[in-house]
Amino acid sequence: MDRIIVEGGHQLNGQVTISGAKNAILPVLAATLLTGGKNEIQNVPGVRDVKTMVNLVRELGGRVDHFEADRLVLDSGGINNPVAPYDLVSTMRASCMVLGPLLARLGEAKVSLPGGCAIGARPIDLHIKGLEALGADIQLEKGYVHGVAKKLKGAHHLFESVTVTGTMNVLMAAAMAEGETVLENAAKEPEVEFLADVLNQCGAKIEGAGTDKIIIEGVTSLKPIHCRILPDRIEAATYMIAGAITDGDVEVLDCVPAHLEAVIQKLREAGVGLKENETSIRVRGNGELRPVHIRTHPYPGFATDVQAQFMTLMTLAKGQSVISETVFENRFMHVAELRRMGADIHIEGHTAIVSGVEQLSGAPVMATDLRASACLVLAGLVAERDTVVSRVYHIDRGYEDMEKKLSQLGAAIRRVR
Ligand code: EPZ
Repeated sequence: MDRIIVEGGHQLNGQVTISGAKNAILPVLAATLLTGGKNEIQNVPGVRDVKTMVNLVRELGGRVDHFEADRLVLDSGGINNPVAPYDLVSTMRASCMVLGPLLARLGEAKVSLPGGCAIGARPIDLHIKGLEALGADIQLEKGYVHGVAKKLKGAHHLFESVTVTGTMNVLMAAAMAEGETVLENAAKEPEVEFLADVLNQCGAKIEGAGTDKIIIEGVTSLKPIHCRILPDRIEAATYMIAGAITDGDVEVLDCVPAHLEAVIQKLREAGVGLKENETSIRVRGNGELRPVHIRTHPYPGFATDVQAQFMTLMTLAKGQSVISETVFENRFMHVAELRRMGADIHIEGHTAIVSGVEQLSGAPVMATDLRASACLVLAGLVAERDTVVSRVYHIDRGYEDMEKKLSQLGAAIRRVR
């Protein structure tokens, strides 16, 4: 199994280009099920989760006409199979986003119930309640969510709590339901707004995406998708922190600074120099790092997907930082590994108290999930000697060419089989 070896102590300098966002393309791939045409998607990130979703759409009857570099042409004219099998869904929870589009397109969907994962139980009850509000009859059968709806009907629905892919699932179903749907307490993530924009270009009638109240007037058909995927704000934040932690000078290109306000604010509080331009952010280390308190929260709050990476930065701050994880119940799996590298972190419930240390030391560590693996690579960049990160398949799920991009910035990093 692949491992990544990072030799610490190399300052990062230079420019890095951000890829398309994993969490923006996965719902767009699910949305191709709605159009029934030749969909063309640009700026496709070369990450494994994209391949898994493309294979799922193929399984449901789609045809891939072109999938090279960052361009994908997917014909969804032949969608005819309502079953999303366990072997695909179990490898990637986001597959459950085909539930809404299949109900809208075929009037039936049978999707394997995604199990829990390292960061939490991650139920999909809020997705199901939203689709039931649109008139779907949903039963749990032998580990599958089986939904049937002759015709989805618009409705007024309040999400009990904010769910990103839940909002996307119900929004896609509502786009082709009969009449008007109002979604309250909807997720405001840029990826939700992007999905709505893409669907509106196909003829959907969606207003208010990006706010917590979305109004959708159902339509009977949608034109094929033609879009360029939004830059990955979580990948951008990861490289910004890589620049800051090595006290380097890194310019992150092809990103949307407005989507990173919470991260920029916290990096500034830590004493890091930042300059925002229209589509890039320049990060310059300033020597000493100040401790900063963060609390993760749905957008526009501080993203839970940046919590682990920011924690690594705080392990070297001069003083104590308090990091509260409010979105997922079990997202401190990286703490034990950071402690193996000499970090001083105390956990109390959903709060981590990080006391800064002088230096981390290289060690063999194990990645437990996508963002935890990124945080361990960041720790390796500044640790004494080598850090060996195993289970790097987690990284390949959501980061395109991480070793290559970091090497181009001056990191001593390599992958061994
Ligand atoms: C999306 O997951 C992202 N995944 C996650 O990114 C991200 O961490 C998360 O949003 C929060 O920002 C994709 O976009 C593919 P939620 P999602 O539903 O939609 C609970 C990464 O690293 N909940 O907003 O699954 C849930 O357990 C990944 O790229 C229910 O209880 O997250 C969690 O505690 C990791 N019932 C909270 O709500 C439900 O039906 C927020 O989850 C749905 C969610």
